[in-house]
Amino acid sequence: MGFSIALIPGDGIGPEIVAEARKVLDCVGSRYGHEFNYTEILMGGCSIDAYGVPLSDEALAVAKSSDSVLLGAVGGNVGNSRWYDVAPNLRPEAGLLKIRKELGLFANIRPAYLFNELKGACPLKEDIIGDGFDMVIMRELTGGLYFGERHTEEVDGVMTATDTLTYNEEEIRRIAVKAFDIAMKRNKKVISVDKANVLDSSRLWRKVVAEVAKDYPEVEVSNMLVDNCAMQLVMNPGQFDVILTENMFGDILSDEASMITGSIGMLSSASLGSSKLGLYEPSHGSAPDIAGKNIANPIATILSAAMMLRYSFDLDKEADAVEAAVKKVLKDGYRTIDIMDEGMTQVSTSQMGDLIADNI
Ligand code: NAD
Ligand code: IPM
Ligand code: MN
Repeated sequence: MGFSIALIPGDGIGPEIVAEARKVLDCVGSRYGHEFNYTEILMGGCSIDAYGVPLSDEALAVAKSSDSVLLGAVGGNVGNSRWYDVAPNLRPEAGLLKIRKELGLFANIRPAYLFNELKGACPLKEDIIGDGFDMVIMRELTGGLYFGERHTEEVDGVMTATDTLTYNEEEIRRIAVKAFDIAMKRNKKVISVDKANVLDSSRLWRKVVAEVAKDYPEVEVSNMLVDNCAMQLVMNPGQFDVILTENMFGDILSDEASMITGSIGMLSSASLGSSKLGLYEPSHGSAPDIAGKNIANPIATILSAAMMLRYSFDLDKEADAVEAAVKKVLKDGYRTIDIMDEGMTQVSTSQMGDLIADNI
């Protein structure tokens, strides 16, 4: 079958890791008889350089008319780059926020599990790791602080900046439903994470999650405050199955969860809405500190491509094959520098991509 993919290499290590995911997808295509047709589009700093905006209408139209979108990462060194001394809607990250909003991608699924082979790269003590962990962070993606009204103004001679955090019950309900649906296919346990001891939006969040929970009597549901959750993730990660949370809490907790999988270079993600069209991207950023060195870990991007096969194209067997190939390469002892461990063989970004492709 044929599938159209909008490919967004982006900035920093983006082009390096997207090239490896494409390599693996092409192997899947020839092995299983599918044709993946790519259209490259610019987003982020590279688009600002070319067109003066982080995402052009033309690029957005290509994404909208594709079967799915695969992204590397966007952005540069925040604070010292020419891309940041401009209005918020003209910065590289604004392109990412725009594409998420325009495609209606309200559900960001970030699976964080520990490969047995990477126990040595996990910074937690062995007795905490135990049998490992396997959780999914379900992060709301088109609401909250990211999309609230913001401005900076002088109030009584003092510079004052405002960001607003708003959620309505429909926005909460649709992400909660996704989280419970996913829990039903897993270990049937949802922990909803909020700051209901302080925030009104969190109190509404709790109320709506409790309502949705009534439709899923088999799912065990509980609430946890976000500060406690940050602690519990490193104290007892095995307790989590599905974490359901709002946009910014999910952003922060997923970076934390990534590190206990061995590296942020391991954490994939899928951003979905109400159609089959999804945006697939690693959870990490453009890593300007290691860009152009062929040392970045491409596994998060490759596993994101596997999620694309599964969620947008319904190619479960092919997605399984990609995940199995990643596991095999780790089992064979190959590691990029971020997950390197004693007795293992260090490989570059492109070598890791080759090895995974060879194992499809
Ligand atoms: P980052 O995730 O880019 O990097 C944090 C640290 O992790 C760095 O030391 C980096 O070298 C390392 N790292 C990240 N990905 C790696 C990989 N695949 N393999 C090995 N090491 C990896 O976060 P940051 O430095 O805070 O942000 C850099 C830029 O990326 C900023 O402009 C930020 O806005 C942007 N960003 C973009 C996205 C996205 O496009 N989805 C996500 C997060 C951050
Ligand atoms: C992520 C990133 C983005 C976010 C930034 C770049 C806007 O950190 O995808 O996790 O905060 O959503
Ligand atoms: Mn993030």
